[in-house]
Formats: sequence, structure tokens, C-alpha cells
Amino acid sequence: MDRADVLATGPMMQRIEDGVLAHFTVHRLPAPAEREAFLAAVGPRIRGVVAVGHARIDGAFMDRLPKLEIVANMGVGYDSIDAVEAGRRGIIVTNTPDVLTEEVADTALGLLLMTVRELGAAERWLRDGQWAAKGHYPLTRTTLRGRSVGIVGFGRIGRAIAERVEAFGLPVVYHNRRPVAGETRRYYPDLIAMARDVDTLISVLPGGAATQHLIGADVLAALGANGVLINIGRGSVVDEAALVDALDRGVIASAGLDVFEVEPCRPDRLIAHERITLLPHVGSASHHTRDLMGQLVVDNLASWFGGRRPLTPVVE
Ligand code: DGY
Repeated sequence: MDRADVLATGPMMQRIEDGVLAHFTVHRLPAPAEREAFLAAVGPRIRGVVAVGHARIDGAFMDRLPKLEIVANMGVGYDSIDAVEAGRRGIIVTNTPDVLTEEVADTALGLLLMTVRELGAAERWLRDGQWAAKGHYPLTRTTLRGRSVGIVGFGRIGRAIAERVEAFGLPVVYHNRRPVAGETRRYYPDLIAMARDVDTLISVLPGGAATQHLIGADVLAALGANGVLINIGRGSVVDEAALVDALDRGVIASAGLDVFEVEPCRPDRLIAHERITLLPHVGSASHHTRDLMGQLVVDNLASWFGGRRPLTPVVE
């Protein structure tokens, strides 16, 4: 196989690093202050990028890598990459579908339970010594019992979440760009109509211009006072200012977020709100799953530079 120069845009786990190092000459994107000099010196040699973390891979970045052939994204969501621009330039983009579906669906259920039963707050109460000091933790305002769930974005992860939610005895409907072939659960072409009919929304939507702030004041108002919003997809889908306002005014009951408009961040206006449960984008974050994702990144690069079609292309 061709020993190509590959650039990693963020820190890689040891196992991915070992896999990539075995086949390619790996360079790491330095801190912003040193980036210009690095790209001037090394950019012209780079033929592959491993996209890890939050660095934006847009046209301006691609301009610095004139020999770039492939961007292998470590994740199923690839909104940090300008895929249209990559396609225009004939650059392949791959992602890591399937291997993280179950892990992200598990996290969604964990976040749903934490949010509805206020389990994070209860744990903080115990750790802070308030159980010993004050006695019983206050009863939670909301419960899973009697809820109905609308899943926003019904791909592989959305369907895996639906199966788990149904195992808890709750009915599931879905909103998607188009109905899913062979799917028997009720489909809503209109998100606001679905929000009116359920009291729990779980968003699995990818980021990008088409989904920017799709969940805003109108959807939250339709969800109603017992409403719970969970976001496990991308932060840009939810208008955070509208969410905080809806929680302040009791328009919905609570929210659980694994993803944010800006990442990584300390989302102060959200942290300040007692009705939001926050996780630091850990949907797929287990050694088991990140290992599988890393292997798929390596396999995609190895396929391409070995003269074969990448395994999981999203742009080619
Ligand atoms: C992804 O792969 O896009 C997930 O957000 C990772 O947790």
C-alpha cells in the first residue's frame, strides 16, 4: 500500500494511532498559533485527513492541502466537514456508521431517564451531603409513565432508540425528511404537528444548514408544559436561547442535552438552569465503540490508499 501522508485534526486514541501509524506517515494539526507555518510546510504533502474533534474542514482548509484525496471522519455525523465543497473538488469523505448505533441509543435512553427523573440532580444532592442534612430527596415532577415519544430523525440510531423506548412501554412516532420504507410506526411529515401529539421529543438529527434551529420556540410551544426535549444528534438543531426561554416560562418541563451549539464549551446559561440535564457529547464515548469507530477510520484509509473503494463513503 501507498504510504501516504495523513493529517489528524485532533487527538486520536492509542489504538487508532497505532493502526494509522502502521500504514501511513501521520502528522498532527498543531495549536492555532503554529498552524499557519505547519500548513505551509506540510500541507502540500497531505493526501488524507483523519477528522477527529471539532476542527472545521472547509474550502479554505482544503486550499491548504492541494493533494488531499480523502477525509476519514471519526463519527457518523460529519457536519464539521464541508461535504459539498469536498464533492466539488473530487475529495472523498467517509464516516463511521453502524458501529456506534447501539451505544448512542443507550446514551439517549440514559439521558431520557436522567432528565425525566432528575437523576443527575439527585446524585449531586447525595454527593453534596444534602441527603444526610435534609432527609428525602424531593419527588420528581415528571415520570416516564404515560409518556408518548416522537423521534426526530429516523435513521439507524433513531430506530434503535425507538426499540428501547418501546421496551419501556411507551408508544413511538417519528418525523423524518421522508417516510422510512417498511416502517409501521406513525410518520409525521410536519414536526410541529408531531410535537403537538407527543410530550417527549428525542432529536437524533445531523447538523448542517438544513437542520439549523429546527427545534425552536414554535416546536417547544407545541410540545407543551409536560414536554421533555432530548438532543443526542447535533447541538445546532436546537435554538438554545429559545430553549432556555421556554424552560424559564414553563413552556416545557425539562431538557436533556448531549450536544451543544458550541463544543467544547462551558454552556453557562444552560448550566444555570436546574431543569436541564447536560452531558459532554458522550453518545459514543466508550472504549468498545470508539475502538470500532477507529478501526473503520483506518480501514477506510487503507482501502482507498490500497486502490480499493472506501468502505463507508458519504461523498465519493
Ligand atoms: C457521532 O459519531 O457523530 C456522534 O456524535 C459521536 O458521539
